[in-house]
Amino acid sequence: LSDGPLKGKRILVTSGPTHEPIDPVRYIANRSSGTQGTAIGRALLALGAKVVFVTGPADAAAPQGAEVIRVQTAQQMLEAVESALPADAAIFAAAVADWRVSSASDRKLKKSKDGMPVLEFAENPDILRTVSQRKAERPALVIGFAAETDDVIENATAKLLRKGCDWIVANDVSPATGIMGGRENAVTLITEAGAEDWPRMDKDAVARQLAQRIAARLT
Ligand code: C5P
Repeated sequence: LSDGPLKGKRILVTSGPTHEPIDPVRYIANRSSGTQGTAIGRALLALGAKVVFVTGPADAAAPQGAEVIRVQTAQQMLEAVESALPADAAIFAAAVADWRVSSASDRKLKKSKDGMPVLEFAENPDILRTVSQRKAERPALVIGFAAETDDVIENATAKLLRKGCDWIVANDVSPATGIMGGRENAVTLITEAGAEDWPRMDKDAVARQLAQRIAARLT
């Protein structure tokens, strides 16, 4: 364990997409490479934190030195997160599927002349909201992400209030920005003190700056 301002702090990070099964070979998911989540995990480790990294099936490798919990679905992610509490801070960078197929088939759906399958959906738990609103073992600092395509600050601020988290890292994921799946990110950090636009930078640099801010807040 490295020395640093976050030494002795236990920080939970969620990352990657979740996969919600349709049948044993098919699923629905959000697009998420896990790049930003992994970078945040690494940056926190570099400042000496103990990192519990709860990840869905992401492309990015989990950060070296973290305690890694791998999950597939949103429900599993919630269970993993709750089992990892208490924590000093929690950062929810995962792109969790809002819905799951209400009764996934345990057999592969077959093409049939009876037509197309019709999928029914059920709402997944909101992990960020659930943790933010806990009475017991609520981390002192809960940070969410808001990927928006328009009215970024207004929508992200509304999201912060609705979910009850402390900070939101908002970003514009309009296709023209190239941020989804790309190396760079342009974020606005929303805290109690207001909205701060950060210049466009590498996802690693965003992660390092966020980790510094977390350290300043926790120590
Ligand atoms: O509501 P929306 O999905 O835009 O909120 C994004 C934030 O909420 C992210 O921090 C994401 O990780 C978190 N989230 C969650 N569980 C969900 C949906 C979103 O933790 N089911």
